[in-house]
Amino acid sequence: MERRQLTTGLDICPILNGMWQVSGAHGVINPREAVGQMFAYVDAGFNTWDLADHYGPAEDLIGEFRQTWCQVRSAESLSQVLAFTKWVPRPTRMTKQIVSSNIDISRQRMQMDSLDLLQFHWWDYQNPNYLTALEYLTELQAEGKIRHLALTNFDTEHLGIILQKGIPIVSNQVQFSIIDRRPQVAMIPFCQQNNIQLLAYGTLCGGLLSEKYLGQPEPRGSLDTASLRKYKNMIDVWGGWTLFQELLGVLKQIADKHSANGQIQFKIPHVAVRYVLDQPQVAGVIIGARLSISQHIEENRQVFALQLDESDRQLIESFSQRSHNLFQAIGDCGDEYRR
Ligand SMILES: NC(=O)c1ccc[n+]([C@@H]2O[C@H](COP(=O)([O-])OP(=O)(O)OC[C@H]3O[C@@H](n4cnc5c(N)ncnc54)[C@H](OP(=O)(O)O)[C@@H]3O)[C@@H](O)[C@H]2O)c1
Repeated sequence: MERRQLTTGLDICPILNGMWQVSGAHGVINPREAVGQMFAYVDAGFNTWDLADHYGPAEDLIGEFRQTWCQVRSAESLSQVLAFTKWVPRPTRMTKQIVSSNIDISRQRMQMDSLDLLQFHWWDYQNPNYLTALEYLTELQAEGKIRHLALTNFDTEHLGIILQKGIPIVSNQVQFSIIDRRPQVAMIPFCQQNNIQLLAYGTLCGGLLSEKYLGQPEPRGSLDTASLRKYKNMIDVWGGWTLFQELLGVLKQIADKHSANGQIQFKIPHVAVRYVLDQPQVAGVIIGARLSISQHIEENRQVFALQLDESDRQLIESFSQRSHNLFQAIGDCGDEYRR
């Protein structure tokens, strides 16, 4: 399976497995089955996990998975499994002790001496302690507790402030989909200049960008995961359900066109993921995995066989002229968390 370099010494699967979906807000997970299913993802080549300290049992599941792997496979082969967590503290005073003890909790839960990638989130730019926290995180990196340091949901301005301080940031995780193209405005050009990679989430809008919702009436109050509800709100701001149906129809046409002569029946999610994976600086797209409830392992491997052409991209991008500008409506990447 394809690999992309996130930074020197860190090659990732460009489709990451997202673990917000085990938090409890997307259905009830069976932890034992979930750990069993994690083997199927890794064996299929999906070896890179995205999680956070606040995604319910996600860090514990990684720990359990790693322990089981060592028992039934080998400790040596465990290095092929990557787990990227986040630290999402309340924006208060930051001391080395506070930062260090929180990172230790993640290390213990995930059973990792050194975290592969620690993605830092900050709720409030008015509080400058994010810089203090990041300086302490850099010290923990030097001590070997963190391999690589990254951000999530930082806007371009504050990413710039952090880089000016000399803090070595590898990537920023942001919402990025055919619906939400805010990263294209300022984030991507800035990341190109500064060699920062992007990890995209929301690329399937929780599953709304799929055949399941094509031709369906607008779901009102019937969406049963936090993810679906989050991105339905985004679609409402973007342009509403009627325009979204038109977009789904166009994405299906593109998928069908590429299926016509081949053996693979491409689907809307393939087009949606491929489009974002092809954007500059995007190292990976995170697709939520409802472990023990549903899985799309084989289908999502097909993304790597799809190549979009210029006419596909023009069709997709023609919707930008007909939808609202989310950068103007919401702000830069991550601003939805700070309003
Ligand atoms: N940093 C942040 O603030 C932030 C915020 C949100 C998410 N994230 C990260 O991004 C991850 C992704 O979460 P998301 O909320 O953005 O969800 P998403 O990836 O847009 O959607 C996930 C859902 O898409 C459906 N799906 C996946 N592959 C499919 C296929 N081939 N065909 C049809 N449907 C398919 C599945 O629905 P079913 O299960 O119903 O089949 C799955 O649960 C999270 O787990 C988390 O790691 C980060």
